[in-house]
Amino acid sequence: MQNSNTTTNTPFLDHVSEGLNTQPKYLSSRYFYDKKGDALFQQIMAMPEYYLTNSEMEIFTEQAPAIVTAFEMNPEQSFELVELGAGDGTKTVKLLAEFKNSDYDFTYLPVDISENALSNLKTTLSKQLPDLQISPKQGEYFTVLKELLTSDQPKVVLFIGSNLGNLSDDLANNFLTSLGSYLKKGDKVLLGLDLIKSADIVLPAYNDAAGITRDFNLNLLARINRELGGDFRIENFSHQPEYSEKTGITKSYIKSDIDQTVTIGALKESFHFAKDELIHTEVSRKYNDEILNKVLSGTGLSLANKFTDQKKYFTDFLLEKD
Ligand code: AVI
Repeated sequence: MQNSNTTTNTPFLDHVSEGLNTQPKYLSSRYFYDKKGDALFQQIMAMPEYYLTNSEMEIFTEQAPAIVTAFEMNPEQSFELVELGAGDGTKTVKLLAEFKNSDYDFTYLPVDISENALSNLKTTLSKQLPDLQISPKQGEYFTVLKELLTSDQPKVVLFIGSNLGNLSDDLANNFLTSLGSYLKKGDKVLLGLDLIKSADIVLPAYNDAAGITRDFNLNLLARINRELGGDFRIENFSHQPEYSEKTGITKSYIKSDIDQTVTIGALKESFHFAKDELIHTEVSRKYNDEILNKVLSGTGLSLANKFTDQKKYFTDFLLEKD
């Protein structure tokens, strides 16, 4: 009998079928994040090579008062602070505490697909900030934002952690256009993005010495084995990241180390991998002002301010809805 997930997880099944039947082969990093992938990503964020987390943490720790002032929210009027992909709240708590200290009247609405992540976040934050009004929203970002349209309170949206970087520029433009369509004039977005910098800093973040990023990337094949009845022999594949300082784009691939054939039970199909053939799995775009302004065109959102760490590795850009 097939794994019970094989019949239910149709989007994953359809995606794998499409990606492995296309030349060159691809699989989306969207499917990295099952339970195992979430745990590996937590480990990545704690790695010495993964400078992104510490850089953004420094911005929030050192510049929270300036960021909160720059949102220009009216202390007399309550507003909604929406966070897309809320995670564990380690960074956000710095901003929440600053809003609280400055006596703003707001509700924090963390949005995440994972019920479990939201419930852990609520428990942590209720200890750290007992007065915080928190209303977690489980679901897809835009489904939740659509529901929030009914409220006429001003909004501040946090989309931090370089998450936009995992989208191609076209998809990032589409994403920000949709986001803008759910906002009203004067609403704000804080967008955390990694900056273009030299390969000797970027590449190790995606190719760490302990091999955690390797496991994170290859977990995609392990997930196909678990959920779709695949027979990938993980030891026959390797992690291959690359970064171009010119384009500012990191790309991750899975490389087949030998000539091999893999069968996926739920698809009743076999796939051939030539020796050294690549499966493209992830894009991690690094930004500068020029690229961001291009990606912002036609979205109804404009760059209003920015906050950068001391080493100039990472920036939280403040956008305003026109
Ligand atoms: C979630 N995202 C912003 C991470 C990144 O840096 O692109 C995912 C990641 N991939 C490999 N390491 C971390």
